[in-house]
Amino acid sequence: MTANPAILHSLPADLDVLRLPKHVAVIMDGNGRWAQRQGQPRFMGHRRGVDTLKELLRCCKDWGIGALTAYAFSTENWGRPMPEVDFLMTLFERVLRRELKEMIDEGVQIHFVGDLQALPSSLQEEIERAMLATQHNEKIKFVVATNYGGRREILQACRAIAQKVSSGELNLEDIDEGMFEQHLYTAGISHPDLLIRTSGEMRVSNFLLWQVAYAELYVTQTLWPDFDRKEFHQALFDYQQRHRRFGKVK
Ligand code: FPP
Repeated sequence: MTANPAILHSLPADLDVLRLPKHVAVIMDGNGRWAQRQGQPRFMGHRRGVDTLKELLRCCKDWGIGALTAYAFSTENWGRPMPEVDFLMTLFERVLRRELKEMIDEGVQIHFVGDLQALPSSLQEEIERAMLATQHNEKIKFVVATNYGGRREILQACRAIAQKVSSGELNLEDIDEGMFEQHLYTAGISHPDLLIRTSGEMRVSNFLLWQVAYAELYVTQTLWPDFDRKEFHQALFDYQQRHRRFGKVK
């Protein structure tokens, strides 16, 4: 297998281009604390967090990583103060509108996963527009988990399958891991190989519960707005020191 010369050019020399994760997922934690440490309101941290995410997406693309999934809003985040929830919904919409042209030009294929019907209708429209406009792009998949909960995702898959069994469209014996995955929000998207969480918390927090079964975990104390290329390089370097056995013995 030969690597693309453009990737080799920009990839740090201590990373093996053939052993990069194909899919990286991030729990972008610490925006609020970052802002508070600067004496700023929490929303400033979310704003800075968008720049960090944009830079990470660009970095993944430059280094030939095929998919990036970001946890933008969980099913539990509705419990935050209403002004913060409203700010985040408006931010998602504004960022989508502002960045769409560049994402089209850069070959980014955008996906949103989660219970999207509960989002404000103007945001749903932007999401629809962005997914449609980028559906044929092939450079990198950018998956945004919004109003996402791993338990809710698994439950809705169970319901959809049960419905098909009761209507006779499916038999019980047809249910296996492969077909179950086809009923998840992430159908057609590979599982993450590496899950990064910033700000030091050692939790999965209801994120991609099915999909991260064999992902390598990387937790850094760095708060999300400070997670830069250097930090990502460190996470990839750490990942490449691991021996992924998938429960088997070598
Ligand atoms: C967690 O930090 C961060 C969030 C709940 C929001 C993350 C969203 C973005 C960075 C915007 C992404 C935008 C698009 C369009 C994909 P926190 O507030 O929980 O931080 P804390 O733990 O310090 O309070």
